[in-house]
Amino acid sequence: MTADPDLDALFAAARAVREQAHAPYSGFAVGAALRDEAGRVHAGCNVENAAYPVGTCAEAGAVAAMVAAGGRRIRAILILADSPAPVTPCGACRQRIREFAGPDTPIFVAGPDGLRSRFTLEALLPASFGPEHLPDHGVDAG
Ligand code: THU
Repeated sequence: MTADPDLDALFAAARAVREQAHAPYSGFAVGAALRDEAGRVHAGCNVENAAYPVGTCAEAGAVAAMVAAGGRRIRAILILADSPAPVTPCGACRQRIREFAGPDTPIFVAGPDGLRSRFTLEALLPASFGPEHLPDHGVDAG
């Protein structure tokens, strides 16, 4: 798929988890996969709800899976959806990613047929607020 097997693994995980999306209301299935500081891949899909605002994004699921597995840093994340324009994370998910990532962390955007764009967190969420703004936050920025 790409020249990078790590990126290919994220793509494969996002594509597989997207199949599990629960998106009966929008009909818009999304998969996200991220690599943590130990090299492990965690994935999530969007989970919609009859009470529409309660639904969660694929990125939120992937971040929750990482944290539940003990991961605390996002080294790279890939979002996969099928849309004419590449699907970047929503504003809330940019902030979710920000909690565990640095300005240079790559955010890859893919469609079913492959990679479409590459951003950094800083590009998508400039001048952002994060743990280091809080005293004694206890978050390791590494
Ligand atoms: N969605 C995601 O899961 N991630 C994104 O980056 C964009 C939007 C979901 C939310 C909702 O279930 C559906 O896509 C339509 O907005």
